[in-house]
Amino acid sequence: MKILSRYTLADVAGTKISKIDVYSPDIAKKAQAGQFVVIMISAKGERVPLTIVDADKKNGSITLIFQELGFTSKLLGKMSAGDSLYAIVGPLGHATEIKNYGKVILVGGGVGIAEIYPVAKALREAGNHITTILGGRTTKFLILSDELRAISDDFYTTTDDGSAGLKGFTTDVLDDLLKKQKYDLVYSVGPIPMMRSSSSVTAKYQIKTIVSLNTIMLDATGMCGCCRVSIAGKTMFSCVDGPEFDAHQIDWDELIKRNRIYEDKEKHICELNKILWT
Ligand code: FES
Repeated sequence: MKILSRYTLADVAGTKISKIDVYSPDIAKKAQAGQFVVIMISAKGERVPLTIVDADKKNGSITLIFQELGFTSKLLGKMSAGDSLYAIVGPLGHATEIKNYGKVILVGGGVGIAEIYPVAKALREAGNHITTILGGRTTKFLILSDELRAISDDFYTTTDDGSAGLKGFTTDVLDDLLKKQKYDLVYSVGPIPMMRSSSSVTAKYQIKTIVSLNTIMLDATGMCGCCRVSIAGKTMFSCVDGPEFDAHQIDWDELIKRNRIYEDKEKHICELNKILWT
């Protein structure tokens, strides 16, 4: 599983987002919008789920975008074109239900923008009217802006510092749009607080809202149970039942708690990593 190319999309104040193209013809052939792969960098490494941002069937490659956050994603960030991943499995998870809904708003925050791109493309091809709202700390974190602007009928950006678009949150724009006109679907991917806020806003207007969850995963085949989430009071597995769920049915408090389970250990490993790599 050779890395064919690697680009840095954003590198600001210690936050780095990178894009890699990986040779994987079988996955490229079958990948659909909304699906993901699990990669391993080494035989003893952890398994990391990453959304398939694009698939080039002709060249047999898939595109993955990741933020260097934890131990493994930082190691991945040190790999270059020509290096090989130890393992990659996919495509995993249910594909997004693509049909002509009518008017769709896609909300992407941070590295979640990478996840809305394939869905926006597929929904556009299905004849939907596409409105895109992107949010980031600064303009440099609005990755794939040009690509998403090109396939959107309406396009908005928000930044924390006002360096692009509205100074504020994606949900400010979302609320404003929903106040003024009727939309048929909202699709939101980003940090959990952003998806939760999107969900609260759309609940007021009773608009169907889908989010794609990035939970902790291990086997990603429904065996270990570590990706479980509560949906309408029922336990479901994000890897095989998701990763997309109805935002209005998610137990957000539980999800936040579960995603923090390994935070302390991760910090400890990152400290060790710093010592080993510097
Ligand atoms: S990752 Fe193990 S059940 Fe989903």
